[in-house]
Amino acid sequence: MATINSFLFLLLSSVLHLLLFGCSEKVEAYRFEEMTANLRLQSHVVSLSSFMPAGVCSTPAQGTKTSSRLLQVAHKHGPCSPLKEGKAKVPSFHEILIDDQARVKSIHSKISNNADPPAVDSLAKIPATSGQSLGTGNFVVTIGIGTPKQPFTVIFDTGSDLTWIQCQPCAGQCYSQQDPIFKPSASSTYSNISCNSASCNQLQSATGNSRPCGSTCIYQIQYGDGSYSLGYFAADTLALSSSDVFPKFKFGCGENNQGLFGSADGLLGLGRDQVSMVSQTAKKYKKLFSYCLPPTSSSTGFLAFGSQAGASSSARYTPLIKDSNNPSFYFITITGISVGGKNLSIPQSVFTTSGAVIDSGTVITRLPPAAYSALRTAFRQGMTKYPTAPAISILDTCYNLNGYSKVTTPTIVLHFGGGTDLNVDPSGILVRATSTQYCLAFAGNSAATDVAILGNMQQQTFEVIYNVAGGKLGFGAGACS
Ligand SMILES: *[C@@H]1O[C@H](CO)[C@@H](O)[C@H](O)[C@H]1NC(C)=O
Ligand SMILES: *[C@@H]1O[C@H](CO)[C@@H](O)[C@H](O)[C@H]1NC(C)=O
Repeated sequence: MATINSFLFLLLSSVLHLLLFGCSEKVEAYRFEEMTANLRLQSHVVSLSSFMPAGVCSTPAQGTKTSSRLLQVAHKHGPCSPLKEGKAKVPSFHEILIDDQARVKSIHSKISNNADPPAVDSLAKIPATSGQSLGTGNFVVTIGIGTPKQPFTVIFDTGSDLTWIQCQPCAGQCYSQQDPIFKPSASSTYSNISCNSASCNQLQSATGNSRPCGSTCIYQIQYGDGSYSLGYFAADTLALSSSDVFPKFKFGCGENNQGLFGSADGLLGLGRDQVSMVSQTAKKYKKLFSYCLPPTSSSTGFLAFGSQAGASSSARYTPLIKDSNNPSFYFITITGISVGGKNLSIPQSVFTTSGAVIDSGTVITRLPPAAYSALRTAFRQGMTKYPTAPAISILDTCYNLNGYSKVTTPTIVLHFGGGTDLNVDPSGILVRATSTQYCLAFAGNSAATDVAILGNMQQQTFEVIYNVAGGKLGFGAGACS
């Protein structure tokens, strides 16, 4: 009897258990999934070790879509760079921020929404005659110039148009570079461009400099950080691969070059104006290119042109806007910012007053002051459990993560015209200043009229697709690996 009773009891309780808990376990599991999905929208859990570049370069596996793209992109400094540092000093984090601010200042003085004359300190730093004045960017690719072809590792820059490399005999002065300096007399396809040509006129308007005209067209380009290049405007064969070859490509043969180019051999101008590489290769590539910037200096990305660009099927697009007063820059429209899944209440007028550009050479995204302060407030609210750390240069929201192996940050989503979102990768939310100090990787402009700049940290890991002919800019997630 007792055994039957206890059997019945067991049976009953199992049925009850099934009825009561079997069901609710499912509910619990469902709730848990929903909660984690929401958490995923609201926050990132990131291992701090992911912010530290490894000592060795890891490239995507051979045969992947990424490895077959045209040009491999590497950070200028670090284990994946083809440039062997040593001759050129690797800048400190503080120096990188100072250079970045110089670039931003020069973009602001170029794209002036302000009828007022520029502030006194910017006049002192940027020569009034210089139309082109940008800092020099961070990512390099290797291209071939001349016949026979010689390899040159150059900084690529969507904020300027002219491509140039250092040239012998360096009548002025050349800095020390990675590869042998280009020797025009050793290339059978090299030619000077005449001073009276249409190309020379285009160059003058692109660089904002008019030089006295002898027989050979002379260029002079000045960057906001004080760097410059001066020399002959020339034409020779540009080769990106064995099948992507452009005879009579126009570029600067720099005989007097100084500045913060590291040991890079020159610069590849990917701006949208006439002399840029994008314009010169329009017949083949239809003004379509894309890149993926790697999240650390120990990984690589790509720069692709034409049919090899824009492969991310998940890419979302926003209109690319042209400004005839600033023909080199790629303008876009920011409409809002969400932090931790919540859209911040920022009046539209804040973004329409500033306007916005995307730039490969600016490191830290710059926002209108009202937008930045809303972002900062919301971000700080999501980070209250971490001890704060002092500001460093332009970065005013820093944390001491000493002793932590992981950090949970709110998500940051930038909203663009056309309903396109950029869900910023964790590598673009916090930047590692020292081994223990991490800062929010955004900054505010000082004036509401200064143009907002989507910088390269926030573009990391996305395929950024410039469909210039189609008038649109795309973001495809997870593209570098
Ligand atoms: C290009 O012009 C410079 C300056 O006039 C001259 O020294 C050089 O020989 C020219 N090169 C060619 C290939 O014409
Ligand atoms: C975010 O809020 C602003 C107003 O503060 C609004 O104009 C914008 O459309 C919103 N964006 C999204 C994606 O909800």
